[in-house]
Amino acid sequence: MADRLIELREITKSYGNVYALGGVNLSVDKGEVVGLLGDNGAGKSTLIKILAGAVRPTSGDILVRGKPVTNWNAGRSRESGIETVFQDRALAVQQSIVRNIFMGNEKGNRFGFLDLKKEVSEASRLMREIGFTSRVFTPNSIVGQLSGGERQGVAIARAIYKQADLIILDEPTTALSLTETNKVFHFVRQVRASGRSILFIGHNIHHVYDIADRFVVLDRGKVALEVSKADMKSAEDLIRFMEHVAHPELTEKPKEKNKSSRSKGAA
Ligand SMILES: Nc1ncnc2c1ncn2[C@@H]1O[C@H](COP(=O)(O)OP(=O)(O)OP(=O)(O)O)[C@@H](O)[C@H]1O
Ligand SMILES: [Mg+2]
Repeated sequence: MADRLIELREITKSYGNVYALGGVNLSVDKGEVVGLLGDNGAGKSTLIKILAGAVRPTSGDILVRGKPVTNWNAGRSRESGIETVFQDRALAVQQSIVRNIFMGNEKGNRFGFLDLKKEVSEASRLMREIGFTSRVFTPNSIVGQLSGGERQGVAIARAIYKQADLIILDEPTTALSLTETNKVFHFVRQVRASGRSILFIGHNIHHVYDIADRFVVLDRGKVALEVSKADMKSAEDLIRFMEHVAHPELTEKPKEKNKSSRSKGAA
């Protein structure tokens, strides 16, 4: 079996008699970028809140590195190496990059005082690790001066500092230009190269197609399609698959590139 980091089995979440999630299976392997797609109300946010331990599932199992976990909550999620970068609320824009990375986890020296020098060198190491190389900005630069993509980089660096093995990015490119989106993609690729995993939530199929190794499409609380990029020729191919899943009676089932596909749901 692949090096499985996290697995959700038959997760349901109901609010009263409304099912936000109706039995979802989702796994993320080590060093993998999984793209999570779906329309408004499909259940994407509910799913990542469950992974973050912020929302308790109504039923279902969560396995971390192959082992079932009990009493899953925000603390357990963090201890398991899961960090979520939420779109806007992530950063204190009037503060420096270094302050943002260490906020709430400040490094002390042996007298218990803040060790700013250590933080600055650690921050610049983290920024280099994710491929944030700038002639203009240093760890002491104010986050408010950074572009949108660069801010995502600071949030990703902070997640890595917190020893994340899985970084969940909630619509990281929705408000960004193409140049800024490419910056975020560059960071994501660096993170994957270091063996960490990313769950990338997005609306723009082209963005998600570019960056993910595998796609999971939610539709009204269920996994409608799961397919790896190796089985797709292009983003248009993925769109055709999604259209077929939504309207099987109106569309022809697209052909898969090879038979070793993990895709399902489009049958
Ligand atoms: N706290 C809540 N109370 C009641 N219903 C909720 C709650 N949170 C989510 N829902 C419902 O669950 C369903 C899934 O919502 P969710 O926010 O997970 O969707 P989403 O895929 O993130 O959508 P979007 O793309 O709009 O962010 C929706 O029908 C929503 O109204
Ligand atoms: Mg949402």
